[in-house]
Amino acid sequence: MSPKRWLRLQEAMAREGIELLALVPGANLFYLTGLSFHRMERPIVALFPREGDPALILPAFEVEKARAAAIPWRLFPYTDEEGPGRAFQAATEALGWGRPIAVETLAMRVLEWSLLASAFRTPEPIPAEPLLARLRMVKGPEELAAMQRAVAVAEKALQMWLPQVRIGMTEREATRRLIQACFAAGADALAFEPIVVAGPQAALPHATPSDRPMGRGELMIVDFGVVVDGYVSDLTRTFALGEPDPEWPRIYEVVREANAAGRAAVRPGIPAEAVDRAARAVIEAAGYGRYFTHRTGHGLGLEVHEPPSIVAGNTTPLEPGMTFTVEPGIYLPGKGGVRIEDDVVVTESGGESLTTFPRELMWIGE
Ligand code: CO
Repeated sequence: MSPKRWLRLQEAMAREGIELLALVPGANLFYLTGLSFHRMERPIVALFPREGDPALILPAFEVEKARAAAIPWRLFPYTDEEGPGRAFQAATEALGWGRPIAVETLAMRVLEWSLLASAFRTPEPIPAEPLLARLRMVKGPEELAAMQRAVAVAEKALQMWLPQVRIGMTEREATRRLIQACFAAGADALAFEPIVVAGPQAALPHATPSDRPMGRGELMIVDFGVVVDGYVSDLTRTFALGEPDPEWPRIYEVVREANAAGRAAVRPGIPAEAVDRAARAVIEAAGYGRYFTHRTGHGLGLEVHEPPSIVAGNTTPLEPGMTFTVEPGIYLPGKGGVRIEDDVVVTESGGESLTTFPRELMWIGE
């Protein structure tokens, strides 16, 4: 475990009066320990007390992996035959029971919570997300370097893929080729299932690529990202398949200006919601406000969606090192849509886009 992160966790727990933090496999556990485990039917729970060594309840066959992480774990293994009940009891005896436990409300399942709650005789769980967000929101130089690499791989993949796209190709075929380009460009993994959709499908911000052939004159939205060294990129561009139908270039320009306004607004000290406001104001002024149906962006780092959310009502002040997307869009139901998404880092004096792929409307697919 990074000793610095461990110290920051203990300080944050002391500040917030949290005595025990329970984590399941995922980004938070990886952040603190460098350990990745599959999330499966066998529960794995790491317990971090405010003082003293952490504990790990896990299947016996995972013990070697946990030891290799050079963390002073107290290990509580269980076999497939005996099941996890006794290991949870043993952890309780070592750590003491009756204290409230902070948990990841978005990640911990009823499986882990019911075992914890009965062994530790604990009342309602405390949401751990605010504490974990404060630890993870500001990225260090190594984290930013990994994100920059994830962006570079995605942009290279996009460049390799674009010449392969043809008018009449199905969304699924185009998606399959994009996935291959991502790995050929150096991705460790996909950040999420890529979205390549055109025409009416592009009016749905989270559409699933279909067997529909992409038609001439339609706009095609491509939204994808890759993982490099644990960190993600998330990039959206919109392209015209041949000469676009006449209404689209103007709408495209509105979204491009909204994206630029959102990025230009980024600077330390302003609330996260001010970036949303800046982007949204452009779309509202052009008369398309009700067709921009989602927030302007989301934090990203180890996860594709993490704090800070770039949304009205989020008053979290931006700080240098925070990373998030700026991705305004206009979606006309039944017709199509435009979204332009960049990955931005807050700097000492403003904001900088990690993504640099051109934002002008390109005609492709001929
Ligand atoms: Co995004």
